[in-house]
Amino acid sequence: MSSVQHHLLLCATPTKALCGDPAVGAASWDRLKQLVRELGLEEPGRPKGVVLRTKADCLRVCCDGPVLLIWPEGLTYGGVTPERIERIVHQHVIGGEPIEEWIVRRTPFSRPLAPG
Ligand code: FES
Repeated sequence: MSSVQHHLLLCATPTKALCGDPAVGAASWDRLKQLVRELGLEEPGRPKGVVLRTKADCLRVCCDGPVLLIWPEGLTYGGVTPERIERIVHQHVIGGEPIEEWIVRRTPFSRPLAPG
């Protein structure tokens, strides 16, 4: 498998619906899937590594949702919408520049990542 640049986990339509409007979550998930495909982010030969995406049931934030957690940075965005997904993918995932004003939680790894 190719290396992984980012893993995006979206609490889109949780069982308990504690995380905002499930309709907005579902639309955000659809936009995320579409963007990842359109931009070739899951292509195995992508030089910067592939971008994985997972629809999670609950990311243990349970407010300000839908929420999107991005690894390896451990940053969680709140109030996600299809429009925000668009900017997050372009500015953070591709551009490497997180959008500070939408971050609701930071969860760093307990050990630094290996270089490389
Ligand atoms: S329901 Fe979304 S983080 Fe828990």
